Amino acid sequence: MAETNDIRDLAYLSESDIQKLNFVNASGSYFFRKYYRSGLRSHIFEVLAKNDVLKETRGEVIDGVRMFPRARPKKMFRILRKRFENKEKIFHEIERYHILLNFLGKDLIAESEEFIVDYTGTGESQILLCGLQEYIQGEILDPWRFFGDNYLKELFKSGTHRESKLLDLIQKARKNIAKFVKRIRSMIKETGYIPDLAGIGNLVLTPEGGLKLVDINNIVEIKFNDTIFIDDKGYPSCDVSVEVLSMLERNIFQNDLFMDDPLYRLFLSKKRKIKVKALEKEFYKNL
Ligand SMILES: Nc1ncnc2c1ncn2[C@@H]1O[C@H](COP(=O)(O)OP(=O)(O)OP(=O)(O)O)[C@@H](O)[C@H]1O
Ligand SMILES: [Mg+2]
Repeated sequence: MAETNDIRDLAYLSESDIQKLNFVNASGSYFFRKYYRSGLRSHIFEVLAKNDVLKETRGEVIDGVRMFPRARPKKMFRILRKRFENKEKIFHEIERYHILLNFLGKDLIAESEEFIVDYTGTGESQILLCGLQEYIQGEILDPWRFFGDNYLKELFKSGTHRESKLLDLIQKARKNIAKFVKRIRSMIKETGYIPDLAGIGNLVLTPEGGLKLVDINNIVEIKFNDTIFIDDKGYPSCDVSVEVLSMLERNIFQNDLFMDDPLYRLFLSKKRKIKVKALEKEFYKNL
């Protein structure tokens, strides 16, 4: 279990810690379980119906056989680790999420109800940004390994589909990835913002061939100059996100024509990419 100080800082949050937070009502019919995948910026918990957890642990008899079905989250509960100086900064962050939602649409994003809470665990009030988010079941789409349909085939294979169904799913996934690329492109063009596409696990492919961006809080402004932006975690997330976008675009549209775009010309120049790689190396060294 975490030290009391850790709970206060919210640096580490265990399952038992979360029940103690002043803004969580753990006495109701829901149970908060730490999600097995995690990221750097948020604490992520599954919100489970207590009844489902009971079925998972004690089992339930179906057709004479005792089964232990894994409890499926009703929602994902996210607490951002980032400290905001004031409410305006939080509102700005929430505003960016709404811009993203407007451009991507509900079909390409894990929708979230963003809200702020007053955390009193440190003895004084601290404002935190939280989100109750739609749970997205599926496989992580890793843009660094996505070089063609074989990769998609592997992802859908676990559902043991017939070959024709598998091809159908791959087609659907390709269509959705193409839609995603186009919408992100238009968001960049019209607002100058790009979401974080760099983190592993930020994009999830659903068993139906849908694509969802689940990491919705780290949206950065693209600066069209030679300075490489480093985010609050020391990562060149803007540059790497542009690179990920270009990789998705290349693999979906199967050509390099778009590489002449001013966005890519600036961000993906050889000189700049060498600098970005060095910054990434530094980031991983300090993890
Ligand atoms: N709504 C969701 N449904 C399913 N999985 C999710 C959801 N939200 C997050 N995840 C998974 O949890 C993990 C961490 O999520 P996420 O990347 O959003 O966290 P983070 O701490 O904000 O990110 P990062 O370290 O990339 O800044 C990822 O593997 C992601 O796929
Ligand atoms: Mg992430």
